[in-house]
Amino acid sequence: MSEEKIIVIDFGGQYNQLVARRVRECNVYCEILSYKTPLSKIMAESPKGLILTGGPSSCYEEGAATCEKALFECGIPVLGLCYGAQLMQLVLGGKVERAAMREYGHTEISVDTTSPLFSDVPGETSCFMSHFDHITALASGFKTIGHTKNCPFAAVSDDERKLYGLQFHPEVLHTPYGKTMIKNFVRDICDTRGTWEMGAFSERTIKELRDRIGDKKVLLALSGGVDSSVLAALLSKAIGRQLTCVFVDHGLLRKNEGDEVEAVFGPKGSFDLNFVRVNAKDRFLKDLSGVTDPEQKRKIIGKDFIDVFEEEAKKIGAVDFLAQGTIYPDVVESGLGGESAVIKSHHNVGGLPEHVDFKELVEPLRNLFKDEVREVGRKLSIPEKLVSRQPFPGPGLGVRIMGEVTEEKVRIVQEADFIFREEIRKAVERSGERPAWMPDQYFAALTNVRSVGVMGDERTYDHAIALRAVITSDFMTAESSEIPYEILHTVMSRIINEVRGVNRVFYDLTSKPPGTIELE
Ligand code: XMP
Repeated sequence: MSEEKIIVIDFGGQYNQLVARRVRECNVYCEILSYKTPLSKIMAESPKGLILTGGPSSCYEEGAATCEKALFECGIPVLGLCYGAQLMQLVLGGKVERAAMREYGHTEISVDTTSPLFSDVPGETSCFMSHFDHITALASGFKTIGHTKNCPFAAVSDDERKLYGLQFHPEVLHTPYGKTMIKNFVRDICDTRGTWEMGAFSERTIKELRDRIGDKKVLLALSGGVDSSVLAALLSKAIGRQLTCVFVDHGLLRKNEGDEVEAVFGPKGSFDLNFVRVNAKDRFLKDLSGVTDPEQKRKIIGKDFIDVFEEEAKKIGAVDFLAQGTIYPDVVESGLGGESAVIKSHHNVGGLPEHVDFKELVEPLRNLFKDEVREVGRKLSIPEKLVSRQPFPGPGLGVRIMGEVTEEKVRIVQEADFIFREEIRKAVERSGERPAWMPDQYFAALTNVRSVGVMGDERTYDHAIALRAVITSDFMTAESSEIPYEILHTVMSRIINEVRGVNRVFYDLTSKPPGTIELE
């Protein structure tokens, strides 16, 4: 790839993927490499600039993550962030020591606006700090370009060598001008043109796929999720009917979802490909019958999924390529980017199918972040509804029904979930903008509770639905969303009136931890 590129060198900090995303927001391609990557390999990528990230340790400690001095002598601009800034000083002869007090959170900062790093940044602004150590003496050639009350060397530079250090985190939104600082570095200091954008990516990738695949065959397990849908669209544009998509409908999808996937990718849709839908609901329900343990349910769904997919694959015969919707966070999730590549589990439930006859994997989305994948989807005219879909677990409603999964319970949860999503959509449309309570994921689940109620003059003994809606940025931690009471009330009343078999509706207030997002 002759694309101009910035390399983020990963020292294990928690915001490293965010740094890479910020660079890409400047329309410059960016990759994350572990600090253990040999310098020769980094240079072989011909980067226009390097960014050293934050990290959890102290750079002066024995065995701490480090880098070679030669890295600063390659003539390429380097920006160090937090740990990266301290390490740059230490390696070049400055001093880093434990600070008397940990600096954490919003901090007022004064910056030198004549520095190219701070062009378009006000002289007095704020930044997000998170460090125990601080720089106490500068390496020769460096000067201070920013200070805070407790931190005399909050921002430093050696303009001659184009080396810059920030002892705070410009990549997080809590640093209001952080994006501008990163842009100044990436575009001006590193002298890039900014040509990375998703339209160009799609065109190039389609051509590359065509060249690589030639007249051979590709098999893809299509789930209807964002990644596999975008992958199907890219491959369809590249090789048309040499692509076969197998869509295993396990009957645990949301209401109408199976048909929606078929409408887009099936014979009446607008993509040229072979589409095979396997309606395997009965098989899944049969195998789940009588099973109440959540882990066991997941295992059964995962195994059935792979078995069904493999059976279909056998009918198709040998293929040359198996396509996978692996995306960049799957690759770097380990915390040390590029260190340990993990292959995304097939459909996120099982693993790679063992008995499918293929020679190579195709993973064209491997370098993209989720929002970039969505953008590619839009460029390829996948309907917005599919492209902006909220996450949905591979085992589907199997992880949203407590206790045994039955056809009747699937119906109940599908209906209730449909109503909940519809009311949220209407409320968002009414408010005209994204409301503060807008959940990142929301759904109905069926609890394992049946209780006495009264409807009309009759005593009922029916199910209880739980509504779950969370606000989260990483899905690792989450808070329940403060959906306005009237909306919850409308949803409750519609579910009770419209969904047979439900006489109570609860709202789950639990955050994660201690809860999980799913309710199984
Ligand atoms: P939990 O319930 O663990 O969920 O807090 C975190 C996020 O992961 C999704 N999730 C899954 N996604 N396969 C998936 O593809 C799964 O088996 C699975 N289980 C949970 C969940 O929807 C949430 O977004």
